[in-house]
Amino acid sequence: MSVRIEASVSDVVGPVPRRLFGSFVEHLGRAVYTGIHEPGHSTSDSRGFRGDVLELVRELGPTVVRYPGGNFVSAYRWEDGVGPDRPVRLDPAWHSVESNRFGLHEFAAWAQAADVEVMYAVNLGTRGVQEAADVLEYCNHPGGTELSERRRANGADRPFGFRLWCLGNEMDGPWQIGHKTADEYGRLAAETARVMRMIDPDVELVVAGSSHADMPTFGEWERTVLRHTAGLVDHISLHAYYQEHDGDTASYLASAAALDAYIRTAAGVIDELGLEVGISVDEWNVWDLRRWNETDQPRLVAGGWPEHPPLLEDTYTLTDAVVVGSLLGALLRNVDRVTMANQAQLVNVIAPIRTEPGGAAWRQPTFHPFRLVSSLARGVSLQVSVEGDRLRTERHGEVDLVDVAATLDGSAGAVFLTNRATASTDVEIRLRGARFEVAAAETLSAAGPVSLPGAAATSDAKGTTVTVTLPPRSWSLLRLAAPDA
Ligand code: AHR
Repeated sequence: MSVRIEASVSDVVGPVPRRLFGSFVEHLGRAVYTGIHEPGHSTSDSRGFRGDVLELVRELGPTVVRYPGGNFVSAYRWEDGVGPDRPVRLDPAWHSVESNRFGLHEFAAWAQAADVEVMYAVNLGTRGVQEAADVLEYCNHPGGTELSERRRANGADRPFGFRLWCLGNEMDGPWQIGHKTADEYGRLAAETARVMRMIDPDVELVVAGSSHADMPTFGEWERTVLRHTAGLVDHISLHAYYQEHDGDTASYLASAAALDAYIRTAAGVIDELGLEVGISVDEWNVWDLRRWNETDQPRLVAGGWPEHPPLLEDTYTLTDAVVVGSLLGALLRNVDRVTMANQAQLVNVIAPIRTEPGGAAWRQPTFHPFRLVSSLARGVSLQVSVEGDRLRTERHGEVDLVDVAATLDGSAGAVFLTNRATASTDVEIRLRGARFEVAAAETLSAAGPVSLPGAAATSDAKGTTVTVTLPPRSWSLLRLAAPDA
């Protein structure tokens, strides 16, 4: 098995946006309660923020975190989570009881402690224009009005200054509370965006696109929603989750090809309308939905209304981590259109970080590719071409045997490679326009990256060709450096 890859330092897809490495915290299961927040935990500070989790979050390196949902937001009253009186309510989306002990101020403080930007979603399911305007005024208006003074009285003298706002969540999905047709949602999103811009002209708005590529409305949904919101929004979201179906690992490992196609189709609709709107892949991950459909949901419905029950606590494997690595590669390959992306989610819920209530916090295998790409993919993403052996898959047709993304930051390069083959694959990488040598060559194990054996990755004397042998069904990375750097 062999593959040849070519790239040129002057053939660039675009700058790598730091917001590509976003994450997501929803009021769902134990993402918040006993996830990021657990008063009384031995590592928690006076605000109840788990120190062990914060340490892992900083190591992981997300840059922006979406909050508070997700499906949860579509029936959420943001006022419940501010001030001294916190009503206990049903959360119909996840069939749970929401204590509201954690809310807006707590999340703003946590985000500051984690050094991440906040991406705040408003409820356009059961609520509308007025409540979205209210929460924005509460957060971003300096003072002198009832809402801004209420924020100040609740302990935040200065405005939170949140820039990024999502106009609802997955409104195309029949499972969504307040689900709407594209026309209904497009109108509501446009009117909401208009007043939000009046209140704070500096906001960046994300209108909800499709929940996944197989939605029967995908394409038409984007077309309709963007016609309504043209000139009012900056980004349109896409959500994308992948899983292995019936033991078909080959197709699962080709998920990044499906993500590429999904992004390019949405970009085609944006172009057709002549708009300058970025794509925000603000929920993406690997997620075995069977757990929710067959175990979590029936258990919830049969068992009453628990408070922050364990939900969607998928335990990930090395194969899942390989797929996560390749999905990050797809995002990098599409930075000409993708302005931000959020891995869903951050802690406990289909997450790279897991915790035990009152106990330990640990990294899942999917933690490692995210950490490595968020720390190494800097500068610009390079256009890459792949030739050689290909792989036929059941779900995604014929795909490159090796999936590749490459970035360049001055004299430092990084190449991220997914070998989809069941055998080792020899890869030759030709880089035009600069000389490089291999500074490090690592491949993923479930516990993190390990060095590839000594001779597995080398550069030739001229520094223009790198050869590497990739282990079967693996995700690997090469760090390249100019010889005199
Ligand atoms: O991330 C879990 C759920 O997946 C989110 O709440 C929803 O938006 C999506 O369907």
